[in-house]
This record gives sequence, C-alpha cells and structure tokens, in this order.
Amino acid sequence: MLLLLSLAPLLLSATESLMIPSNLDSGICPLGQFPCGNLSVCLPQLLHCNGHKDCANGADEENCVDNSGWPKLFDTIQSARGNRKMQDEETHECMLDIYPEPCECWRRMVNCSSQGLHSVPPVSSNVTALNLKDNKIKTLHDGIFSRYQDLEKLLLQNNELHDISRLAFSGLFKLKMLFLSQNRIRSLKAGVFKDLRSLEWLILDNNQVSKIVPGTFSGLESLYFLDMLNNSIREIPRNSICEEMPHLNWLDLEGNQMQTIHSSVFQECITVLSLRRNNIRKIRKGALSQMNKLVDLDLSMNQIVELSPSLFTNLRDLQQLNISFNPLQHIQPNQFDLLSNLQSLNMEDIEIPNIHNRMFSSLVNLSHIYFKKFQYCSYAPHVRSCKPNSDGISSFENLLANILLRVFVWVMACVTCFGNLFVICMRSFIVTENCQHTMSIKSLCCADCLMGFYLFCLGAFDIKFQGEYNKHAQAWMESWECKLVGSLAMLSSEVSVMMLTYMTLEKYLCIVFPFSHFRAGRGQTLCTLTAIWGLGFFITVIPFFSYDTFGNFYGRNGVCFPLQSDSTEKYGARGYSVSIFLGLNLLAFVTIVFSYSSMFYSIHKTGAKTAERSVLSREVTIAKRFFFIVFTDALCWIPIFLLKAVSLTEAEIPGTITSWIVIFILPINSALNPILYTLTTSSFQEKLKQCLQSKRQESSKSFTLVSIQMNTV
Ligand SMILES: *[C@@H]1O[C@H](CO)[C@@H](O)[C@H](O)[C@H]1NC(C)=O
Ligand SMILES: *[C@@H]1O[C@H](CO)[C@@H](O)[C@H](O)[C@H]1NC(C)=O
Ligand SMILES: *[C@@H]1O[C@H](CO)[C@@H](O)[C@H](O)[C@H]1NC(C)=O
Ligand SMILES: *[C@@H]1O[C@H](CO)[C@@H](O)[C@H](O)[C@H]1NC(C)=O
Ligand SMILES: *[C@@H]1O[C@H](CO)[C@@H](O)[C@H](O)[C@H]1NC(C)=O
Ligand SMILES: *[C@@H]1O[C@H](CO)[C@@H](O)[C@H](O)[C@H]1NC(C)=O
Repeated sequence: MLLLLSLAPLLLSATESLMIPSNLDSGICPLGQFPCGNLSVCLPQLLHCNGHKDCANGADEENCVDNSGWPKLFDTIQSARGNRKMQDEETHECMLDIYPEPCECWRRMVNCSSQGLHSVPPVSSNVTALNLKDNKIKTLHDGIFSRYQDLEKLLLQNNELHDISRLAFSGLFKLKMLFLSQNRIRSLKAGVFKDLRSLEWLILDNNQVSKIVPGTFSGLESLYFLDMLNNSIREIPRNSICEEMPHLNWLDLEGNQMQTIHSSVFQECITVLSLRRNNIRKIRKGALSQMNKLVDLDLSMNQIVELSPSLFTNLRDLQQLNISFNPLQHIQPNQFDLLSNLQSLNMEDIEIPNIHNRMFSSLVNLSHIYFKKFQYCSYAPHVRSCKPNSDGISSFENLLANILLRVFVWVMACVTCFGNLFVICMRSFIVTENCQHTMSIKSLCCADCLMGFYLFCLGAFDIKFQGEYNKHAQAWMESWECKLVGSLAMLSSEVSVMMLTYMTLEKYLCIVFPFSHFRAGRGQTLCTLTAIWGLGFFITVIPFFSYDTFGNFYGRNGVCFPLQSDSTEKYGARGYSVSIFLGLNLLAFVTIVFSYSSMFYSIHKTGAKTAERSVLSREVTIAKRFFFIVFTDALCWIPIFLLKAVSLTEAEIPGTITSWIVIFILPINSALNPILYTLTTSSFQEKLKQCLQSKRQESSKSFTLVSIQMNTV
C-alpha cells in the first residue's frame, strides 16, 4: 500500500470499472506441467520461470511474480494514466493572478508545500491543484474552499489539522483527490464530504479517527479509493458504506483497531479490502457474504483464532487471500472450497496440523501459495509456486535441494558400497587364522554396505522425481520405499555402531588383560554377531509397531532418516530418536574412546618396560591407528550428537545441516571403516603381498605366516 500511496497523487482519475485479466492456466495440461499461453504445448514445471524462454511465445516467463489482486488492478490504472500523460504537453507558465509569493505556480496549479503556513492562503478562484503539504494549518473553516470551483486536487498532508468543520469542503464539486494524511483528525462529521460528488481518492491515513458515524461519507458518489490506514477505527457502521459510496472499490483499513467484523458490514461494492494489522478476533458468520465482487482480501496480522466454515463461500471472484500471521488453530477441510478463482493464497506462519490435499484441491486456478513450512507444499501439488521453496533438504523441484548433494550422494554411495564389497571379497579369499576377527569385519562391512545401498536409492529417487518433486513428495514420504530405505539406513548405522563397540571391547580385553586368555570362540562370536544384528533389526522396526506413538517415523523428510525433529513430531518418536542417537550411540562412542585410551596406555606401559626399538615403532603405528579410528568416529558422531542435543532445546535446525549430515557425515564412517579396519592393517597388507608373490612365483612353497600381534589392534 505504501507504493500505492506514493504514486497516488500522480493518478488523476481512474474510475473506470476495471476488468481483471484472467489467468493463463486453463487446466489442459497434465499435473506437473503448464501450458504455453494460448498454444497447445505443455512443458514441465521445472521450465516455468527459469529465466530462459522455453515456449515459442515466451509464455513460460510470464506471470513469474505473484501480482494477483491489487497489484494487477494497479498496473491497469498505471497504464491508463500513461495514456493520459501524452495529451498533457502544454505550457508551463503560470495562468493564475493571485497566489502567495513564496509558492510555485505553473499552469493553474500552486505548490505551497513546506512554507510554514498557518492558514489556507488566498489563491485565484480558477486554481485546479493546490498543494499545502507540510505546513502548520490547524483548522479548516466553513466554506474556506468554496471559491475554488475548478479545484481537482487538494493536498493537505502533514499539517496540524484536528478539526474540520462540516462545511469546510463545500462547493468543491470538481475535486477528484483529497489528501488529508498525517494530521490529527479525530473525528469526521456526518456530511463533511457531501459536496465532493466527483471525488475519487480520499486519503486519510495516519490520523486518529476512531469512529465512523453513518452519513460521514454521504455524497461521495464517485469515490473509488478510500484509505484509512493507521487510524484507530473500532467499528464501521453497517449498511452505509456502499450506500454512501456506490463506486467504492478499494477500502484500506490497515492498522486500525477493529475487533469484530459483524455480519454484512462490508458490502458488495468493494473489490479490494485490507484489514491487515487490526485486532480482529472474530469474524461473524456471513460477514463477507455480500462481497461478491471482492478480488483481494487481506486479513493478515490479526488475532483471528477461527474462521467460520462458510466465511468465504460467496467470494467467487476472489483472486488473492491473505490470512497470514493469525493465531489460527486449525483450518476446516472445506474452508476454501468455492474459491475457484483464487490465484494467490497466503497462509504464512499458520500451523495446519490437519493439512490435507482436500483443502486445496478445489482451488483450480491457484498459482501461488505461501505456507509456514515447506512440508505443507506437498499437499498442494497442483500449485505452480509454493513458498517456502525448500526445507533445506528437498526443494519444490528436487528431492535433494543442493546440486552438490545431488552429485555427492552418488560419490558417497559408490565409495561406501564398493569399498565394503571389496573388503568382504578380500576377506573371503585371503584366509587368516583369526577367523573370528574376519567374521566381525565382514559383518561390519555388510552393515556399512547397507548405508551405500541407502545412498544409491536416495540418488535414484532424486533422479526419478527430478524437476517435480513437490508433486510426489507426499506420496514418497508415505511410501514403503521411503520407510524401507530409511530403516535400512537406521539398521546400518546402529549395527555399525554396535559392531565397532564390540570389536573394540574385544581388543580391549585382549590387550589390557593379556593373561586372562580371553578369546571369543567361533560359536561365541557367531552368537554375539547374531545378537547385534537382531538388536539392530529390533531397534529399526520398533517404530512400525505403533503409529499413534511414532507417527511416520522415517518419512518425516525427503531423505527418510529420522534425524531432524520439529514441533509436529510425536513425543514418542522424538524420545525414541533421542534415546538412540544421544543415548545408545553416545554410550558406544564413549566406550570406544575409553577403551582405546586405556589400550594405548597399557601398551605404552609394557613398551616402557621392555624399552625395545621395535616396540617403540609399533607404539607409533598403534597411536596413529588409534587416532584415526577415534577421529573418524568423532567426525561422524559428534555432529549428530550436537544436532540431537540442539534439537532438544526446541531450536529450529536448518534442514541444510540435516541433509549434509545424512549424506556426507553419516556415511563417512561406513566409507572409512573398511580402510581403517582392513586395508591399513599391516597383517592384511603383508598377506596381500605374500598372496601376490606366491601367485607370481607359482611355486607351491607354503608361505609362513608371520602372525603379528598388530592384527588384534
Ligand atoms: C479458473 O478456472 C476455471 C475452470 O478451470 C476457468 O473456467 C476459469 O476461467 C479460471 N479463471 C481464471 C480467472 O483463470
Ligand atoms: C496467441 O495470442 C497471440 C497474441 O495474444 C496471437 O497473436 C496468436 O495468434 C495466438 N495464437 C493462437 C494459436 O491462438
Ligand atoms: C513543491 O514544492 C516543494 C518545495 O518547494 C518541492 O520539494 C516539491 O517537489 C514541489 N512539488 C511539486 C509537485 O512540484
Ligand atoms: C483565471 O482567472 C483570472 C482572473 O481571476 C483570469 O485572468 C485568468 O485568465 C483565468 N485563467 C483561466 C485559464 O481561465
Ligand atoms: C503506520 O504506522 C506504523 C506504526 O505506527 C508505521 O510504522 C508505518 O510506517 C505507518 N504506515 C504508513 C503507511 O504510514
Ligand atoms: C500477506 O500479508 C503479509 C503480512 O501482512 C505480508 O507480509 C505479505 O506480503 C502478504 N502477502 C501477499 C501475497 O499479499
């Protein structure tokens, strides 16, 4: 509205009833595509407004900005004004005999702004425009302007007016624009504007008008635009607005003190109505039922808690509706059912716990929608533009919003999958005498491999939904595929964590208590591994048992991994994911760090006793490996612990962080584990060397295996 106000003085007349150009969408294209204007070509949504002309007629780059409602009306007026300006090329000489000395005069217009005037100065009677802006005029007496029968424009902004007598504007039959902004007007007397039968613009913003009595606007039979922004109006008299101002199109009541909208206060004449920044708590049933010409309705920033189900039923021409920033508790499923012409719907900052496709399905012409959360966008799959455009993980177009992520998901998938597969094969071909250890390593690799598989699936679905993710988002998150890959990732990460802990503990017992002769037998190892997989499986499937407690545990975001939490998450689900990521995993991490520390300490002690060279170098090697194992664990898990801890404080975690953690950090461990636990161990390298040599020599000489204690570290 500010823009409009600053441009308003330029607009000389604009009463023509305006036809609003109709939207281009005609519904001939399949879902996810849009038509090229009047051509019968359909293009995928991705190409809409991408800055490049894809339709032959360029229609795909039109309507990119949401200018439904009043901006469109305003454009129409602007272009009408442009035509008029052409004819105005006349002389700039002053044509008036009398005007105050310091003021400017050209043609029949006088500019007396900022002259410190305390009263209205005398001017020739045939003046057409009088600018008295930024002066110190306090009152307007009866008949003060009655001589100026030709006056069309009167500017009185930013004066000290507090009293306007009832006949102050008498005789101004030709006045088209009256600006009274930024004064101290407290009340308007009934009939004060009664001679202004040509008035089209009445601008009364930033005053202190608190009450409007019936008859205030009587006589304003041409009034088109009424601006009462930033006053203190509490109530509007019923049944007088359109009676007194039959051509009223725009009514701006932003920033007033309206509390209740009674039924039939606003009537059928109004096209644009702004009630932004009032204190409206209640809109009575039928309050808008007569407004069948309404095109733009702004109810944002009020205190509305509930909308009656039939509130919008008669607003068949409505193109723009703004109900953002209201403490609305819920939205009826059929609230918007009859708004088939609606093009823009703003519901920013509104929680919609009961959101459903049904709510928006009848809004066939809707092209712009604004929500509090990106997740809601998937419930309006036919809408071309939805804000917010991304939750950091996914965007309106793609499952993975970030192009880097879209590439790296494949890289990580390959590294993780093939690295682990390679180790599994290697371990199978090269026989070691410590088969328990090999079993554990293979098992760890299997778990890590699942992580690679999960990333492959993610990458594949990202490609599948490319360019139109929003259309599939909801189905995807509720699909069994999402649940499956999500639970695989969960299984992988939990089994991997438990395996690492188990292997560490085993080594710990071996080294720290060397004389206890603790060695897990084959059967024992098998049992432990089965138990670990069983436990991992159990942890993974628990959320499927009770939908009431866990909701859709895995399908809460595009990557199907339950790391991110928000306010709509069920308590059960939140508690569960916290107890896993911040409980079980943290415990495992602490155990690993502790075990390696005391292992290292113990080796160091024995080393100091023997004080041999070889022991020293061995110690350095152990230290290096110890550092890398704990370091990668820390790299992987500390961000996750932090993320979970922060999420406990109810702070909003950007989805970008979650997606990077899920696609980069979480798989790091899985990708590095085969390297750390197999490829870098000296025993493995030695054996590999021997294996290659023996193959080369083809000699059947049995090689002696040098059993190296390192293998157990
Ligand atoms: C809205 O959609 C209906 C049905 O598809 C169509 O007939 C009508 O012309 C559209 N209105 C506008 C303003 O686009
Ligand atoms: C589409 O509209 C343009 C101008 O609006 C017109 O020149 C053109 O002939 C129309 N094309 C078709 C196929 O109707
Ligand atoms: C009127 O006069 C003031 C100050 O003298 C000047 O700033 C302003 O631009 C003038 N307005 C017009 C429309 O010429
Ligand atoms: C305006 O009125 C004065 C006399 O008051 C007259 O001299 C002048 O010609 C008039 N100008 C026009 C454009 O009618
Ligand atoms: C309305 O009032 C608010 C606060 O009182 C102020 O910030 C805003 O600029 C005013 N709006 C206009 C258009 O003057
Ligand atoms: C809706 O209202 C909000 C708050 O007043 C405003 O920020 C937003 O720009 C409006 N949206 C539209 C599309 O008019």
